[in-house]
Amino acid sequence: MPDEHRAPEAPHASETPHASDTLHTSDAANASITPHTPGESRYPDEQREAVYRVIAERRDVRQGFRPDPVPADLLRRVLAAAHQAPSVGFSQPWDFIVITDRARREQIAALARRHRDEFAAGLPGARARAFDRLKIESILDTPVNIVVTCDRTRGGRHTLGRHVQPRTADFSSVLAVANLWLAARAEGLGVGWVSFFDERELAAALRLPEHVEVIAYLCLGYVTGFAPEPELATAGWARRRPVSWAVHAEEFGRRGLPGEEPVDPLADVIAAIAPPDAAAMTAAAERQDRMTKPRGSLGVLEEVSVRLAGLAGACPAPLPEPACVAVFAADHGVHAQGVTPWPQEVTAQMVANFLAGGAVVNAFAAQAGAEVTVVDVGVAAPLEPVPGLLPRKIAPGTADFTQGPAMTREQAMAALTVGLEIARDLVAAGNRCLVTGDMGIANTTASAALICAFTGADPAEATGRGTGVDAATYARKVDVVCRGLALHRPDPADPVGVLAAFGGFEHAALAGFILGAAALRVPVILDGVISGAAALAAAALAPDVTAACFAGHRSVEPGHAIALSRLGLSPLVDLGLRLGEGTGALLALPLVQSAARALRDVATFDSAGVTEKQ
Ligand SMILES: Cc1cc2nc3c(=O)[nH]c(=O)nc-3n(C[C@H](O)[C@H](O)[C@H](O)COP(=O)(O)O)c2cc1C
Repeated sequence: MPDEHRAPEAPHASETPHASDTLHTSDAANASITPHTPGESRYPDEQREAVYRVIAERRDVRQGFRPDPVPADLLRRVLAAAHQAPSVGFSQPWDFIVITDRARREQIAALARRHRDEFAAGLPGARARAFDRLKIESILDTPVNIVVTCDRTRGGRHTLGRHVQPRTADFSSVLAVANLWLAARAEGLGVGWVSFFDERELAAALRLPEHVEVIAYLCLGYVTGFAPEPELATAGWARRRPVSWAVHAEEFGRRGLPGEEPVDPLADVIAAIAPPDAAAMTAAAERQDRMTKPRGSLGVLEEVSVRLAGLAGACPAPLPEPACVAVFAADHGVHAQGVTPWPQEVTAQMVANFLAGGAVVNAFAAQAGAEVTVVDVGVAAPLEPVPGLLPRKIAPGTADFTQGPAMTREQAMAALTVGLEIARDLVAAGNRCLVTGDMGIANTTASAALICAFTGADPAEATGRGTGVDAATYARKVDVVCRGLALHRPDPADPVGVLAAFGGFEHAALAGFILGAAALRVPVILDGVISGAAALAAAALAPDVTAACFAGHRSVEPGHAIALSRLGLSPLVDLGLRLGEGTGALLALPLVQSAARALRDVATFDSAGVTEKQ
């Protein structure tokens, strides 16, 4: 907490020579304030509305700048507004460099272009295409550029608050940007923030002194209009998260707005899951019959397109792209029972491999143009933070389910919540198709137990050889599942209890992920037996969840077919895979996308003037 927000402490005389003056001054300042009742200091309605209006209508602008010069007095007003920002210890660490010179702007625009190209080169297929359509800087389209800087040393070592949190200097300069942005909007001036720079490179190009950092590069100019929504939202790149997702009551995770009931994310998600839209499905089926091809000739893909339309509530459904595979990784206490020849460390090692781009999931994702996100939901080993890894560890692995429940109910709920929040975040980030993936040594044993618990299947039929175990290990695996079922006597009507009894954290998180996708009416392509077991838990919580689910493939694990049949889903491919990671689902991704594209793009007999079969 910055010092100025702490309860006042007795100043140390030798360190703060003018402490008594300061106190005296602040007493005097307080004395000059006439006490107000709550609400009395409020602005008149019209002025309050103007404040909220400028906040709501401020836009980051990149298109439609006009070449008209910006009057100097207007620039002075906007800069004065920026200069009134709050700052740590009143250190006012900002400076503003006003750039109008064309040659200088051309040099800076070239820097930004290079980083734009580098960023574009690292994007997966559909994202790269969407990015290509976006404009991300207007350095040359605007008559004025303003660089907001930060001097983290200004004010010396006793700057209040900054000594514990050096970043507060940067935060202060950002607040100056916010003031400038709002004042500019009120003046009818568009502002675009460009951050496609290497900070040191930009600082050198601007010939900044060593101790001065760049905080923001802003492009200012009159505009033809202000968009009602962020351009990135209109372009489908990302969505605004509802404010209720962002506000927590007392503790992180207890989401809810003041004065409203706390949000129960799982209950909310379950309540939002609805059956498919019958009218959209009928329209899609009818359109398939009118498309320039023999009726039914697209086989299963016709049904896929009809289901996509039902899920979206629109015919044709939007294309399920960009897509993102979320690989949920966790360890299992049941590993101690000798159910696999692989050591537990392999989970963490494979996570590192996913993040380095070296696993099969990375190859298939690259081929299909999908993004890979890895979620540590319970890997036994501590993992270093790296880009692409979401750290959401509930615990370092579950307990051995032959000895007691694998996790507590609270842990199962926490993992479910992680999954549904990740689904929401990935959809808010612009993904239109989610793909399930998993990593967890021993997780086929946990999956078999879950499938038996939810379907009543015989452990000997539902248990498979996983990564390829010998006969003795296989027999032990079946016995472990039998012992677990005997110990816990699971009640399939209590899905959270079943997950807690046997599940891995990745199963519970995947169940939440699938529910989260269904609640947002975004298709989710299921991978193999681990996802199948998780989907059974999801369907037990919300039966209509299956409307969003597409079975990517059939794994050779026998439990997977049992799960799919209970879910009423037909696998799209059957290639004898038994790898997990999301690999089978990724192979099905182009099939689901092609089904949607055919429904959207293929001409009908009437529109194309093609004669129908007699
Ligand atoms: C720190 C920061 C850096 C940004 N960098 C860029 C950028 O490099 N290029 C760009 O086009 N927009 C950039 N933006 C603008 C955001 O994309 C934009 O604020 C966001 O989409 C929300 O839209 P709105 O500002 O219109 O509400 C940046 C915004 C912030 C706050």
